[in-house]
Amino acid sequence: MVLFITFEGGEGSGKSVQVKELYKRLSQLAIPALLTHEPGGTPFGKKFGRWLKWAQGTNISPLTELLLFNASRAQLVTEVIQPNLESGRVVISDRYSDSTTAYQGYGRGLDLEMVKATNNAATQGLKPNLTVLLDISTEKGLARKRAKRQDRFEQEDMAFHQRVREGYLKLAADDSERWLVIDASQSKKKIAEIVWQRVRRLL
Ligand code: TMP
Repeated sequence: MVLFITFEGGEGSGKSVQVKELYKRLSQLAIPALLTHEPGGTPFGKKFGRWLKWAQGTNISPLTELLLFNASRAQLVTEVIQPNLESGRVVISDRYSDSTTAYQGYGRGLDLEMVKATNNAATQGLKPNLTVLLDISTEKGLARKRAKRQDRFEQEDMAFHQRVREGYLKLAADDSERWLVIDASQSKKKIAEIVWQRVRRLL
């Protein structure tokens, strides 16, 4: 059985908590699993991810973002995701190509067909079996992050984050079989339970 699960959402949606919860649950049941994260997940991806999030005084164009996120993804798919799926592990990724469609496509306004083609090249067509969208209002999500130092994306204005959110909701509506949309203002425990019910069915 091949099971590839991704988590998506805007800033402050609580993805990182939920990916860990799911990983923990699978581990407790002795189901082999691997947890990874974008941008990052490989030494190459970590370098570019840090730069894409924190570069200061450098002008990074939307097209450069598209290519670099996908360069990091190509490496992650080849080096980590594919081999682990092939060895029978459930692979969970905190963000994947839908992040690029939402942020660089809907958020930055790049041509959606170009984004799709680039994403496909990087992923070699590998699609998740399930994508969990943790949906939260932009105001609430950003408020959760306000206390921390803000990266290049978190510093974007409300309209940008609103476009990202709407982009995600559109992606989910267009492929409701793959996507599970969850109201992320619910308790962590409730969200983890909703995710688990769906994953259990897939297992
Ligand atoms: P995170 O590590 O807190 O999830 O931050 C990653 C940031 O990078 C987040 O603001 C979304 C952004 N991002 C993109 O813009 N495009 C992408 O393809 C990915 C993976 C992330």
